Amino acid sequence: MATATPTRPEGLTTTRAPFIEESQSRGDLFIEQPYHLYSEDNQEAWRRLYSRMMPRWQRYAHPRFLEGVNNLALSSDAVPRLEDINKFLEPLSAFKAKAVAGYVPAYMFFDCLRRREFPTTITIRDKDSLDYLPEPDIFHDVAGHVPMHTDRHFSDVLVRFGEVARAAAKRALEIPERERRVHVVESNIKALARFFWFTVEFGLMRHEPGSEEIRVYGSGLLSSFGEIEHCVESTDVQRYPFQLEWVVNQYFEIDKYQPLLFVVDSFKHLFEQVDVLEAWLHQGKLDNVSPGEPLINEQDLRSFLNASFE
Ligand SMILES: [Fe+2]
Repeated sequence: MATATPTRPEGLTTTRAPFIEESQSRGDLFIEQPYHLYSEDNQEAWRRLYSRMMPRWQRYAHPRFLEGVNNLALSSDAVPRLEDINKFLEPLSAFKAKAVAGYVPAYMFFDCLRRREFPTTITIRDKDSLDYLPEPDIFHDVAGHVPMHTDRHFSDVLVRFGEVARAAAKRALEIPERERRVHVVESNIKALARFFWFTVEFGLMRHEPGSEEIRVYGSGLLSSFGEIEHCVESTDVQRYPFQLEWVVNQYFEIDKYQPLLFVVDSFKHLFEQVDVLEAWLHQGKLDNVSPGEPLINEQDLRSFLNASFE
């Protein structure tokens, strides 16, 4: 039997995890989840996040999400182990959560989705500041995203989305002039990021087709105690039927409650929109979208320009 590894006091707290800093300094992106490093404070953060969120999920989350929470056997008592999550997840949709040490450049991220892998943050926010966090943590990634991945239709949307990203990277290779190629790729990434933001991260869906009742399926909303209620109840939020031409040209800010959200009819509707997105890509309709957020960083740009296709 192996001897127990001593727990480091720092734990795996967001922005304060020596294990993550060491992984990053070695250049390791895909890592193991060193479960023994979670401190008692980390476990307490999970318990607080989960227990206060559950009643709001029951009220506002899409039924597929609630089924996902059940199917994954997520625990209210302890930070989940990704290997346990994957035992439940893989048989349902062939998706798996894969631990990462930090930011995954855009192309690599979308291409992971195409392969049914979800880059998953393993750190957790501080137990005393549960509300706002600019960076993802395990509560956002595992409790916000992964339950939706148990749904075959939703997971197919993610795969299709990864295919569109791949088509964009391939298409860029055919643009001979570098300045034009960079402009097109930047614009394509912006359009993809906006689509992802207004669906996978902040999407709303009709409870049933034709129903006026709104349910939440976007992970940014599902992992926010305040915004999950605000996005459905507040008269300050503009909720409009999903319109692709609007979504790909609409900038967004990540550090405040969203003033504008889009409602899809169903998972089928969402899937069809990814098909339209791909058609628009090939027609050049995503080559010069409206400027503004998100700004495309050098890493994201290079990940598309240097993509390899095995
Ligand atoms: Fe997310």
